[in-house]
Order: sequence, then structure tokens, then C-alpha cells
Amino acid sequence: SLLVPWVQDLAKDKLGVVPERYVRTDQDPVIIPDSASLPQVPVIDLQKLSSGDSIDSELQRLHHACKEWGFFQGSPNTSCYSKNAGSFRCNNSVLNSSENSTAQRPHLINHGMSDSLLEDVKSGILEFFNLPMDEKKKFWQVPGVLEGFGQAFVVSEQQKLEWADAFYMITLPTYLRKPHLFPKLPQPFRDTLETYSAETKNLAVRILNLMAKALGMEAKEIDELFNDGWQGMRMNYYPPCPQPELVMGLNPHSDAGALTLLLQVNEIEGLQIRKDGMWVPVKPLPNAFVVNIGDTMEMVSNGIYRSIEHRGTVNGLKERISMATFYSPSMDAEIGPAPSLVTPESPALFRRISVVEHLKGYFSGELRGKAYLDTMR
Ligand code: SIN
Ligand code: FE2
Repeated sequence: SLLVPWVQDLAKDKLGVVPERYVRTDQDPVIIPDSASLPQVPVIDLQKLSSGDSIDSELQRLHHACKEWGFFQGSPNTSCYSKNAGSFRCNNSVLNSSENSTAQRPHLINHGMSDSLLEDVKSGILEFFNLPMDEKKKFWQVPGVLEGFGQAFVVSEQQKLEWADAFYMITLPTYLRKPHLFPKLPQPFRDTLETYSAETKNLAVRILNLMAKALGMEAKEIDELFNDGWQGMRMNYYPPCPQPELVMGLNPHSDAGALTLLLQVNEIEGLQIRKDGMWVPVKPLPNAFVVNIGDTMEMVSNGIYRSIEHRGTVNGLKERISMATFYSPSMDAEIGPAPSLVTPESPALFRRISVVEHLKGYFSGELRGKAYLDTMR
């Protein structure tokens, strides 16, 4: 990756116009659908999926959400759904006028992560981006390394840049942590992220196991892939932009890993997902997670589940901040369609590849929609 300017600094200069290197003529315009036509899909209750009479019907609902949406949003809104646990509330991410608009929206409720942890994570991220430049420079990318502050996927001096600063790091397994990153984060942010890392791993593994069950995979297949998986976190800072319609905060892409949990830190809109050829904005909900399936899970499920293409737009007046937590199979695993899902009637749609090779390929080019996943076919 090439080193790039610090966008937070660029934006501070109150420029009237965006520098040429950020002006995009290569992107689709934003299409905002009429909200009345947005279909809604089912509530997913993690509690119901662990015990009780409704396990099977609930699992069907999860299966449907993963096949048709590849995506859901959830909010730990305890007042609506349960006394002591959080809830996921899925968002209106689909636009298809032929779909039934009276069905319910997807919610994944009772995920069990506390509001106070999420509040600590969010305030920690805000403070981190607000550190003085001298402090942040210690975490700056060095040439050839993706982790730290900067932008990934920059492969040429001519390439258009994103209107954002990102901080990316591997968090699990712990021996892969770069000594100058995670261990050097300010306290108490480091401890907060340690807890968050463990809890998001547990949540991701739990959801992946449920998906495996819904898909009819063998438990062993999913254990081998995910018991000792690999986790990364990327904090995104999108400064306000004088000409927001000319720039891209995050290029269209699908995620490489199996499952992504996205926390929208300050509830400013910007994330859009591509559904039926349209870019549909995702409205942030208070303390909400956006959950999406990544390329790895599309491959493992042999195409039954979809990794959804998404992008980040920016705001003219306000900064937007988010953090994605990615969960992937362990580095020494191999990915490809689960053997239990490959039959004479449904032959393998993807080739097999080691996780290391897969990631190497993903990070070696520009982010371009689902183009990289297509090379796995
Ligand atoms: C964002 O919504 O800011 C980022 C989404 C992503 O990580 O792809
Ligand atoms: Fe993403």
C-alpha cells in the first residue's frame, strides 16, 4: 500500500473544493429510494435460537435473511424486546418494488452485548481520532504494511483516494498483533477493545454456527474453520467534505472474511448497500450493529448466502465514524464450498484456497465491488 495524505488534516483547512485526487467520476450516483416501497423482513431472536419451541421457525427466518439480504442491522434496544439483553434491529436495506412491503423488518435480538460496553467502545474511538497528530503518527502505516492509520488498497499514484482515514489492525489471534499497535493504544481504550474483541468473536461464532445449522452443514466443518478464527478491526473516520457528492468515503466492495459486525459510532448516515442494482442507504440505529456476510461465507455456503456489496458516502457538514470487526477462519485453514453442501445437483461454485492466499489476493488490488470474489469461481 502507498502512503496517502491525512484526510482529517486536509478537511481542517476548510477547503472550498475537493483536491483533484479525491474527485470521483467513476462511481454511480446515489439513489435514495422511496421509503414507503421498502420491504421488511423477519425478526431474528438469538434467544429463541438457543432454546424453546421456536428454534426451527426462527432458524428458517435467519436462513431467509442470509439468502435474500446477506445483511441485517440490530440495535440493543432493551425496552422493546427483552428485560436484560440487547437486540439487533435490521434495516431497510432492500429495494425491490415487487416484494411484499408488509413483511416485517429483520431484527436479531437478544445478542447479549451490553450498552455500557458499546458506549465505552464508541467514546474510545472518538477520543482516539481526536488525539493530537503527534500521538497518532506513532500508529501511522509504514510502507508495505496495511495495519495502522492510513488507507488500504492504494496501489498506484494515479488512483483516486477515499475521503477517509482508517485505522486497521489484526486483533486475534493475539500473537498476530503488531507490537506498535494494539499494545500501544491508550488506556482505558485498550482494555475496552480487549473485551470488545472477545465479545464480538463470541457473537460472530455464535451467528456462524447458527448459519451452519440452517445450511445443513456438519458441526465439525464449522468448528474447524471458526473455533480459532482470525479477527481484524477497522475504524473509519470520514471528515465532513465541502463537495460530498464528488467523493467516495469507502469504495464499493464486499468484505473478505466470513462475517462483519459494524458499529456506527456517531449515527451519521453514510453506509449504502447494493441491492437489485440500486444503492440503498442504511439508517444508523442507536447502539446498532450492522451484520453482513463476507466473501468467505458466500464461498463456504457454496453461494447460498450472499456477501453484499456496500460503500461509504460522506457528509457535507458532519464527520462520520464507524468501526467494522471482521471475523474469518483461522489463518491455517482452507476455504471453499463446505463438502456437505456439494452434491451432484449442486456442484462446487468456488475453488478452494488457503486463507492466507485469499487474504493476500484481496489486499493486493484496489477495492472493486465483488470482482475479487469472482476470481474464486
Ligand atoms: C462504514 O459503514 O463506514 C464502513 C462499512 C465497511 O466497513 O465496509
Ligand atoms: Fe465492508
